[in-house]
Amino acid sequence: MELRAARRSERDEVLDLLALWYDDRAFFALYNQNDSTFRDDLCLVALDNGRIVSTVQIFDRQLNFGGEPVPLGGIGSVFTREDYRHRRVASELMRLAVATMERERFELSLLFAERLTFYSQFGWREIGRKFSMLAQASQIAAPRDIEIDTFDAARDLDAIAAIHRGYSGRFNVTAVRDIEAWRSNLVFAGNQPLHPGKGAEEYFAMARQGNAAPVAYARITRFHGVAMVMEYGYRPNRMEAMLALFRHLGEVAMGGPSSFTLKGDHRNAALLKSDRPDAAPGVIVTHTAHDPALEERLRAGGCPVMHHADNFYMWRAISPSLLAQRLDVAPERAEDRMLEIVRSDSSLFWTSDRF
Ligand SMILES: CC(C)(COP(=O)(O)OP(=O)(O)OC[C@H]1O[C@@H](n2cnc3c(N)ncnc32)[C@H](O)[C@@H]1OP(=O)(O)O)[C@@H](O)C(=O)NCCC(=O)NCCS
Repeated sequence: MELRAARRSERDEVLDLLALWYDDRAFFALYNQNDSTFRDDLCLVALDNGRIVSTVQIFDRQLNFGGEPVPLGGIGSVFTREDYRHRRVASELMRLAVATMERERFELSLLFAERLTFYSQFGWREIGRKFSMLAQASQIAAPRDIEIDTFDAARDLDAIAAIHRGYSGRFNVTAVRDIEAWRSNLVFAGNQPLHPGKGAEEYFAMARQGNAAPVAYARITRFHGVAMVMEYGYRPNRMEAMLALFRHLGEVAMGGPSSFTLKGDHRNAALLKSDRPDAAPGVIVTHTAHDPALEERLRAGGCPVMHHADNFYMWRAISPSLLAQRLDVAPERAEDRMLEIVRSDSSLFWTSDRF
């Protein structure tokens, strides 16, 4: 078995292998072909007789840690061909991934896993976090003089990126996005594409007052069959506009009309309607634990917030000495300190940044 980084000429073969997973080559291609930080040397492969039989990918991201961008290696697209499983091939690739991230000076690593015991063998630790369920978003008390428009990258990207920097930038472990990273993220965030090659499906709504710039936004996808606000943000002192936007989403999720003036193309708002027969109507999943002031206003405004524990979220220090300098602790304390920060309710990793 040969273990190494993939060559540029092997990009198609890696996608052919991943296509065996969900029979969804287009989903993996969205990342491999549109991520501005994609590097062949971070795409690890195992070959038998010259054929790729297993892969592990490292996603190159920057995370906000106390206002500083920190290099994060996200692990994803871990797959072994069925006839090669249980021969330690993926285990060897995971070890190569750690060595590669150390060499490339990544400081920490994140992965989303169902196989917690598999990844814990290689040093990743399971961290609990909270998703939020809003069951009555359509009831939120909110001002009505808000206009709901849809996002147009050519017109709105700078304004939305500024809201993201200001709002998400307040919380540890949010992904830092420059304009290029934003453009990549707009292509691959969201659920799997209905129209291969066209990007992932999302409903990107914005709130504004009058003809002014947007003051709040929300990005919606359908996650495991239910509506999920995978990211949002609002300008300082404009929480009312955020509440209005949540009310609009709740109204549409319930199948009713919006009580706001609408502009733009709202066809993708159909993503708010669950396609699971067992799901309660109108429920919206999102992240709110990082923002207690918003949670308080949601509750006071008639929309209870229920938390749902999730632990398919695993972290590992890659370069304790670099992290130690950054966190101002001894190297042997660096990983624990990092995990404490990640575990805090005030830390946030948006589902839109998942890989
Ligand atoms: C997960 C996956 C990548 C593992 O690939 P692999 O090359 O078989 O991995 P390894 O052989 O290194 O180890 C995997 C398993 O085999 C077990 N194993 C390793 N050697 C073994 C042996 N000699 N006999 C029996 N089991 C063995 C490991 O303990 C591990 O157990 P687990 O899968 O129940 O956690 C593979 O099962 C796969 O592609 N699954 C579908 C995609 C997927 O789920 N990806 C991960 C998403 S989180």
